Amino acid sequence: MVDPRTSIISERLKGVGRVVAVSSGKGGVGKSLVASVLALTLAKKGCKVGLFDLDFTSPSTHVILGVEGAKPKEDRGLVPPVVHGLEYMSIVYYSGDRASPLRGADVSNALIELLSITRWGKLDFLVLDMPPGIGDVTLDLVRLIERIEFLIVTTPSRLAFETVRKLAGLLRELGVPVIGVVENMKMDKAKTIQQQTRKLGLTYLGQIPYDTKVEGAIGNTNKLKKTMLVNRLRKMAKEV
Ligand SMILES: Nc1ncnc2c1ncn2[C@@H]1O[C@H](COP(=O)(O)OP(=O)(O)OP(=O)(O)O)[C@@H](O)[C@H]1O
Ligand SMILES: [Mg+2]
Repeated sequence: MVDPRTSIISERLKGVGRVVAVSSGKGGVGKSLVASVLALTLAKKGCKVGLFDLDFTSPSTHVILGVEGAKPKEDRGLVPPVVHGLEYMSIVYYSGDRASPLRGADVSNALIELLSITRWGKLDFLVLDMPPGIGDVTLDLVRLIERIEFLIVTTPSRLAFETVRKLAGLLRELGVPVIGVVENMKMDKAKTIQQQTRKLGLTYLGQIPYDTKVEGAIGNTNKLKKTMLVNRLRKMAKEV
């Protein structure tokens, strides 16, 4: 059966320039931080940017950005509030502090529902903070948003990169463009990930050191701006 909402989605995203999914094969590699800081950095450069938290079961960008008291406006759909200069959307507006455990089909449903009712303004970039791994959200997005692009985050660990290989392979099969790979939480000078990334035929966008200032900066965008993340992502944003 054709879901009428799916045809509305492209209409809803008509004013959006590029849709960038910040993704990884493994959890805990820094996707949410990279997505949030990348969005802030692009906005600082004068771009119009939206940030959409698609980690429905464990959203975290609202914590990173210190989002409090904001709510979408209901007007022929949902108009995302502007938070720190970003049009910001998250399931957390509705789930609050409660857990939102969702089964596969419900994840797809929530994704389609939110994509079809959210009224983004004219945006240069819509940054998507993805849940970890290759699952329903990844497959649905590729199906629903034809021009989606992926930015892959990994750590220096072989365990994380092994999953990048799989994700990159899948995206290649599906014909989805990958902007490049960011190596996060780097603690040494090893070039392994850089070399392996190039071997996969992907762009190595750069590295972000492990920065002890990050934890104290969570929830405070002014402090976040003083971390290495911002410094490095500013350079990478140029390539994006
Ligand atoms: N460059 C860094 N320096 C120091 N700490 C970092 C850095 N990048 C991420 N972290 C920390 O690592 C943890 C995981 O980061 P984050 O939540 O962004 O990862 P994630 O990939 O979104 O995780 P999940 O897969 O659960 O969504 C957080 O505690 C974050 O503060
Ligand atoms: Mg996350």
